[in-house]
Amino acid sequence: MELPSKNQKERYVREMFNGIARKYDLMNTLMTFGQDKAWRKYAIRRARIGVGMNVIDVCCGTAELTLEIAQTIGAEGRVIGLDFSEEMLAVGEQKVGTSDCQSRITLVQGNAMSLPFPDNSFDAATVGWGLRNVPDINQVLQEMRRVVKPGGWVVSLDMAKPSAPIFKQVYWMYFNWIVPALGKMTAKRKSAYQYLHDSSRAFDSQQQLTQRFAKNGLINTRFHNLMGGVVAVVEGQKP
Ligand SMILES: C[S@@+](CC[C@H](N)C(=O)[O-])C[C@H]1O[C@@H](n2cnc3c(N)ncnc32)[C@H](O)[C@@H]1O
Repeated sequence: MELPSKNQKERYVREMFNGIARKYDLMNTLMTFGQDKAWRKYAIRRARIGVGMNVIDVCCGTAELTLEIAQTIGAEGRVIGLDFSEEMLAVGEQKVGTSDCQSRITLVQGNAMSLPFPDNSFDAATVGWGLRNVPDINQVLQEMRRVVKPGGWVVSLDMAKPSAPIFKQVYWMYFNWIVPALGKMTAKRKSAYQYLHDSSRAFDSQQQLTQRFAKNGLINTRFHNLMGGVVAVVEGQKP
């Protein structure tokens, strides 16, 4: 499929996520063989998130990562989840409402390209499967860097590019054929899951994203492959 242009991307992405919001969590579990939860926990560790911290989770969607962060920061901590899709946030609000950490979580509708928070507001910033979907990755990284306090970590968890021969061919075939079919059956939106494959192909490799972190003023940058590099966590620290 033809990916949306930079100008059309926000509208396309927002409508797409509004359309799949109710099935998003189920599809994630099916597609990742239930691994997504462990990957989120790992990203939280790499963001050095601890008890009592104040954290922002950008592109929070249905608040899966936000809720994991809330468990980690304890009763004294605070986490803001920000997303522009009202339907994804509505699913997130339901989950937050029935969780035991409601008082630590605030979900905000907003745009990752222009975070509505002052400089140096948070101890850490995370983004899970979000950077691939924004019109300008550099701008979002600069925004995340801006709102984090000096010494705080910016962490992305997203699709990456495995390099092992055979494994990578099998993976891209699975992703190109099986995942869209699963999306059609489960979420009735084959195109959204075709977009997932096509946008992942077009996205930075883990090496390129790590370089991008450095170009946007983050230090101590590195990446960690998960599941053979199908997914990667990229980290960088604000000087
Ligand atoms: C693949 S979902 C990831 C959700 C969640 N982080 C998780 O771990 O499952 C991507 C989310 O990014 C949001 N998003 C994409 N572009 C955005 C933007 N410019 N501003 C705010 N949210 C955005 C979408 O609405 C969607 O909910």
